[in-house]
Amino acid sequence: MSALFQPFKLKDITLRNRIAVPPMCQYMAIDGRANDWHVSHYAGMARGGAGLVIVEATAVAPEGRITPACTGIWSDELAQAFVPVVQEIKAAGSVPGIQIAHAGRKASANVPWEGDDHIAEGDARGWPTIAPSAIAYGRNLPKVPKAMSIDDIARVRQNFVDAAIRARDVGFEWLELHFAHGYLAQSFFSPHANQRDDIYGGSVENRARFLLETLREVRKVWPENLPLTVRFGVLEYDGRDEQTLLESIGLVRQFKADGMDMLSVTVGFTIPDTTIPWGPAFLGEVTERVRREADVPVSSAWGFGTPEIAERVVKEQQLDLVMVGRSHLVNPHWTYAAAKELGVARPSWTLPAPYAHWLERY
Ligand SMILES: Cc1cc2nc3c(=O)[nH]c(=O)nc-3n(C[C@H](O)[C@H](O)[C@H](O)COP(=O)(O)O)c2cc1C
Repeated sequence: MSALFQPFKLKDITLRNRIAVPPMCQYMAIDGRANDWHVSHYAGMARGGAGLVIVEATAVAPEGRITPACTGIWSDELAQAFVPVVQEIKAAGSVPGIQIAHAGRKASANVPWEGDDHIAEGDARGWPTIAPSAIAYGRNLPKVPKAMSIDDIARVRQNFVDAAIRARDVGFEWLELHFAHGYLAQSFFSPHANQRDDIYGGSVENRARFLLETLREVRKVWPENLPLTVRFGVLEYDGRDEQTLLESIGLVRQFKADGMDMLSVTVGFTIPDTTIPWGPAFLGEVTERVRREADVPVSSAWGFGTPEIAERVVKEQQLDLVMVGRSHLVNPHWTYAAAKELGVARPSWTLPAPYAHWLERY
């Protein structure tokens, strides 16, 4: 019996299998607004059979967008644009999730296919960036951010809360806080990016403060019966990984104590100079360690998108839920392909009836 095709229950939500479409920026929004592209893209992903579809990193404030083409949820009007996205995902039998985000010092960039670098100074499409300290990421993102004041910190924390309320009110059933990938929250935790000398910098407790305060405030408004997850980079591959991992696992335990239901394990991506051991399932063992030592349900991504690997990591209890990103871009019906390959009975029934019926029949 396939482990990947067992249902997964978290709070009051039951996913039909252990496959999720992770957040993947589409860079197709105008002024933060989701549009027909997003409706058709996410509908297609949901029809493919994954248990969960998480909408891309969606900015809690205009200056928190990675690029001018990122989606936002900083107003009720922008939130309303997600209503058809939510409806389509639910109609296809999947669970609609959204990742809310602030890009910090990595914001104000060109879309990947137009350079993936900071928008040049003086170009009206760009905007000033903020971060824990006035330290640039470097390489393709050289812009020096403004070090956030205490008021800035309080404002962005509230931006996350307001975004969570809007996500709740338009029907999302799964909320992910983007505390990863070198964006604002991850950079608060990293000594590479955070060199503050107030209560938000220095010790591990202080570097964790922005993340924990934000999580706690969001938990107060996000329904208790719905999953609240965090995506967090538990290490950087910068040569001090055991120390970072120990600090991260301590933080994850606190996330759990403060109401996080599941962790999405990833890499920090806080600095450009790292030696990431790219390869199939390279985060499997790290994810399993976090799962065991912090005693939390976990998901992960990066190279789990072949049926044999996805099945194995669930069976071996490295992951509770497998994020399959790029393979879904190649084939939105990846779940069907996986079911067939793994010998699941009646694999076509991972598809909607108008597709499944004919595959079953002929
Ligand atoms: C086009 C694209 C956009 C992405 N956007 C996001 C995002 O919005 N938020 C996020 O946390 N990760 C993002 N990622 C990372 C994916 O969630 C995932 O970790 C990555 O694709 C690795 O999984 P895979 O090997 O199955 O593709 C993105 C990846 C891709 C390819």
